Amino acid sequence: MTEKKRILSGMRPTGPLHLGNLHGALANWVKMQEQYDCFFFIADWHALTSNYEDTGSISGYIRNMLIDWLSAGLSPEKSTLFIQSHIKEHAELFLILSMITPLPWLERNPTYKDQIIQLSNKDLSTFGFLGYPVLQASDIIIYKANGVPVGVDQVPHVEITREIARRFNYLYGKVFPEPESILTETPKILGIDRRKMSKSYNNAIYFSESPDEIAASVSKMLTDIQRARKSDPGNPDVCNVYEFHKIYSDSKTVGRINKECRTAEIGCVECKKIMAQNLIKALEPMREKRAYYEARPQLVDDIITDGRDKARRVARQTMAEVRDAVKL
Ligand code: TRP
Ligand code: SF4
Repeated sequence: MTEKKRILSGMRPTGPLHLGNLHGALANWVKMQEQYDCFFFIADWHALTSNYEDTGSISGYIRNMLIDWLSAGLSPEKSTLFIQSHIKEHAELFLILSMITPLPWLERNPTYKDQIIQLSNKDLSTFGFLGYPVLQASDIIIYKANGVPVGVDQVPHVEITREIARRFNYLYGKVFPEPESILTETPKILGIDRRKMSKSYNNAIYFSESPDEIAASVSKMLTDIQRARKSDPGNPDVCNVYEFHKIYSDSKTVGRINKECRTAEIGCVECKKIMAQNLIKALEPMREKRAYYEARPQLVDDIITDGRDKARRVARQTMAEVRDAVKL
């Protein structure tokens, strides 16, 4: 049997996960568990880079994120699930990599410039924030990951990771493979206001929401904005509710909505009700799993410890090779 390829990815614990995260990343990770040797971790040190002034909620977010992951189908039997700050070796490798990373690589990183502008309410002129991709590189290569499933916004970071790995290998001898980005295909579901679904826009539907909360969010969703009255024909192709139907409703319903929207036989209120019901039903297994883990805090603790131990074994082994290569 050939060895499974190893993949690794992480998320910053900055709040509860929403349907955009589910379809954007998580659902993909869940599938990849069958095919790859998967490492998934919660990047709490990375959360500090932009939230260092207010760290009080991070530990709650970490636990919640793990429960979100488990309820979406990540499995501690199939994958290694762990918390970044539990594996101190990431920090040691980060330090060594920081010695060999030329500053211009970091200064020209597009996400760096972008975030400084977008998060102008925060002072991000720190060493840690500039070094974000170096820490990310150490997260990835310490497990010798071959692939990194990410969204497009993270591709520059994987690119920097490859350059750093190459530079390390060139200077000290080959220790690291160069990881590749695995781009996640995503259905184009938007937030309730039709902008990209995002926690910071306040337009997200969270998968930990109750059925009533989901129904309320769906009722607020913008539809085809040209359709002012129920008697006006609508266009499902430009309607976000219809995108949700395509994911959550059966194909017969999708076909019927497509037709009856265009002929004004169905109104948006009814159309949303049908979608909300199907969405609530689709999320039911996740709600059950969440309740299961929430009622068993010890089990969650054990999953965290087991993941830590599995990740640590690999990270320690790599660091032994690194110290050897660097001759320290
Ligand atoms: N930077 C990633 C994000 O914000 C999180 C992350 C940290 C990550 N380390 C990683 C992703 C390593 C993939 C691999 O989404
Ligand atoms: Fe969108 Fe449904 Fe309204 Fe058509 S009927 S515009 S698909 S919400």
